[in-house]
Amino acid sequence: MVGVIATFQGATVMGKGSGYGKVILFGEHFVVHGAPGIVSAIDSTADAEVKKAAKGINVKDERKTAKGYGEEKRLQQIESIERMLKAMGIDSKTGLDIWVGGTLPGFSGLGASAASSVAIARAIGQELGMQMSDEKINQIAYEAEKAYAGNPSGIDNTAATYGGLMWFKKDVAGGPDKIEKLHLRRPIEIVIGSTGKVANTKVMVEGVAERKRKNPAKYDPIFKQAENVAFAGRKALENYDLKKVGELMNENHRLLQEIGVSSKELDMLVDLARKQGAFGAKLTGGGGGGCMTALTPGKDLQGKVLSAIKSLGFEVLSAKIGVEKY
Ligand code: MEV
Repeated sequence: MVGVIATFQGATVMGKGSGYGKVILFGEHFVVHGAPGIVSAIDSTADAEVKKAAKGINVKDERKTAKGYGEEKRLQQIESIERMLKAMGIDSKTGLDIWVGGTLPGFSGLGASAASSVAIARAIGQELGMQMSDEKINQIAYEAEKAYAGNPSGIDNTAATYGGLMWFKKDVAGGPDKIEKLHLRRPIEIVIGSTGKVANTKVMVEGVAERKRKNPAKYDPIFKQAENVAFAGRKALENYDLKKVGELMNENHRLLQEIGVSSKELDMLVDLARKQGAFGAKLTGGGGGGCMTALTPGKDLQGKVLSAIKSLGFEVLSAKIGVEKY
């Protein structure tokens, strides 16, 4: 059995680690190309336990997932662990039993792959007695994330590693990314709705890059607008102007529609949330399926939007953005 708890002189001996899930409030896809993004960790984690094994990398993934998520991501997960071991300087012949679980469901869009990479890297490090800073964990998870996203920006693994609300700007020239913690007056309630459709982030990211390359006359102005929306979003969050934050989320969703990453189900859930009174709603993450998120300040509004999405048979989560400590 994989992931069993071994005991040594009565003590539990194994490596353990966790990584946060996330929602992107502003800038997914645009962030890959150097525009700023705003991401918030959510209070759900992927957790991992790792134990040295005689041979092989044996993964037991017990996360709750959307139908087909495990099958779609299996090969990417194996590649991600191989990349991780290389980045950690660990001999590829090292045998490891890896268990993955936690409260973060495997729904596309919530950073489940990055959260699991952070969790696994931390657990491997602990099991093998390696001292690693958060910065090192973040670098390792970024390498692992390439298996899932091809050319990731790094926003997901950064949120998964550090938690909190963050301004993120990738240095497309390869220098250090700009990562700044943002602080809210009070955390804000959100709702996350899952379309139940598994999406391939790598395909979505490559699709945007290709369309942008082929049609700069259309895409460059949209990317400029997305950058402006992120700056305005930051200001509105810092001023705690939640009506404005919501309007800008709506605007961000429109830009994501224009670059071809929304879907019928995402648009439907976004519309539904807005009709129920959400201050704003948009897809979150790679799109093409996966999840949307709605800004629903206050427990009453959050409950109303949550029930409306749930009543149509979609999986739904309530969360808060801008929580400093979990
Ligand atoms: C995925 O959560 C966010 C994308 O922008 C990819 C990335 O930034 O790596 C679509």
